Amino acid sequence: MREPMDYHKETVLILDFGSQYTQLIARKVRELGVYCEIYPYHIDLQKVMSLNPKGIILSGGPRSVTESDAPVCDEGIFSLNIPVLGICYGLQLIARFFKGKVDKSVKREYGKAHIFLDEADRLLEGVRDGDVVWMSHQDKILKMPKGFKTLAHSDNSPYAAIKVVDGKIYGVQFHPEVHHTPKGKRILKNFLYKICRVKGLFSPKSFVELAIDNIRKEVGKGNVICALSGGVDSSVVATLVHKAIGEKLYCVFVNNGVLRKNEVQEVLEAFKDKLHINLKYVNAEDMFLNALKGVRDPEKKRKIIGKLFIRIFEEEAEKLGDVRYLAQGTLYPDVIESTSFKGPSATIKSHHNVGGLPKKMKLKLLEPLRELFKDEVRIVGKELGIPDNIIYRQPFPGPGLAIRIIGNVSRERLHILKEADSIIRDEIERNGRFKHIWQSFAILIPVKTVGVMGDERTYANVIALRVVESEDAMTADWARIPYEILDAIARRIINEVSGVNRVVYDISSKPPSTIEWE
Ligand code: XMP
Repeated sequence: MREPMDYHKETVLILDFGSQYTQLIARKVRELGVYCEIYPYHIDLQKVMSLNPKGIILSGGPRSVTESDAPVCDEGIFSLNIPVLGICYGLQLIARFFKGKVDKSVKREYGKAHIFLDEADRLLEGVRDGDVVWMSHQDKILKMPKGFKTLAHSDNSPYAAIKVVDGKIYGVQFHPEVHHTPKGKRILKNFLYKICRVKGLFSPKSFVELAIDNIRKEVGKGNVICALSGGVDSSVVATLVHKAIGEKLYCVFVNNGVLRKNEVQEVLEAFKDKLHINLKYVNAEDMFLNALKGVRDPEKKRKIIGKLFIRIFEEEAEKLGDVRYLAQGTLYPDVIESTSFKGPSATIKSHHNVGGLPKKMKLKLLEPLRELFKDEVRIVGKELGIPDNIIYRQPFPGPGLAIRIIGNVSRERLHILKEADSIIRDEIERNGRFKHIWQSFAILIPVKTVGVMGDERTYANVIALRVVESEDAMTADWARIPYEILDAIARRIINEVSGVNRVVYDISSKPPSTIEWE
């Protein structure tokens, strides 16, 4: 059998100087078919050399290179004869290293600018005089370093793109990674293919082939267990591992009683019937609902559900015997997070998900998605033949509907919420907006209000509708969905869900609110 293509042979490194766009650079590079990894700017030279990169990109960053303690990378990277592209802060750093003069300008240049070519070069092939680029900087090169030449200038920056005369060190003042720079992707492509001379080995297909091969080699004869939630990450992990080792993968799907309407059937149908995965379905509905009886405190609910889940999962693992690996859906942002410079943040909510399984189980971790971003996981999922309704599934919290019923979680209240939630899903999907919205769901508020139906007075529940747009759930804004859709949802809920006579729309953003209510 032929060995799969190893796209790591063509790795590009991105050194992160703290720009909000660093991950975007990485995603663009990968979209262009080149595998890349992000490292903190202070990565040591030995490590860089051991990774044997085809190119190095220095990101932008919020600091000024004129500050005495400005973040700097190891100067040695400029002598490795590996192509370097400095973006914004990266460009200024290059200028400083090579003894040019950089200073804070009085005016910050922010937003659209036009660039004009001064000299033809492979980096700017396809760029025309007057093309729009996106600027966001305060520092400026005042004097070019010796041995460098200008490739382009903009209305405000005499040195919008520069290059060392003898070699492959480049810098751009603008941000090629953002979509406000229409030719940005072309410029990155030029850097990768014409300067770093890569072939473009990274694709969903090459990822899948290599991942399957690696899983087979790693696991050998042992068995693997995986908690399946029906969410996109655990679904892709399960499918990938299944393709690699088939029957040696055991998935456990726990019904915790607070899943959405039809969720159990959908997951069983997709994974058991269609993908033929070895799936153990555990119906623990009663156990969870009994444990939640009378509990109103959100953190208590979360803890009860998390603990019970782990207990059940451990029991299942034990029953199977000879399990050596736990497969889970760790993604690349989690990997970067552990090496980045973010400070400690207060616990707002204790999150529970299938990824947080116990360390004491002493299983080796199998994390086949740890190189991927979320959107890449979806593309890989498609490549693996996972149905769209799973791939584009909205994030759903581990504690499920329990944290969307404010106050006590009873079966009756669960029924109301499930029905309302299913109408929302239905209407949002029917209107074709389900790929753009981060989440859309119902919350059951513990108050009753007066209404009138026919000639009768009603005194019934209120449902809140929450529809948010977000990139990563760290921040979110309420979605400005058309009034007609809001109207359709509200009418259907009030008409079809008995026990509800009012629907309200949540127009708070995160922060200061959060996406879930509990
Ligand atoms: P908040 O409410 O903190 O939610 O703004 C941010 C995102 O996280 C989801 N969420 C969870 N996901 N386990 C999860 O896997 C949890 O315990 C959990 N709590 C919240 C939430 O749905 C939103 O997408």
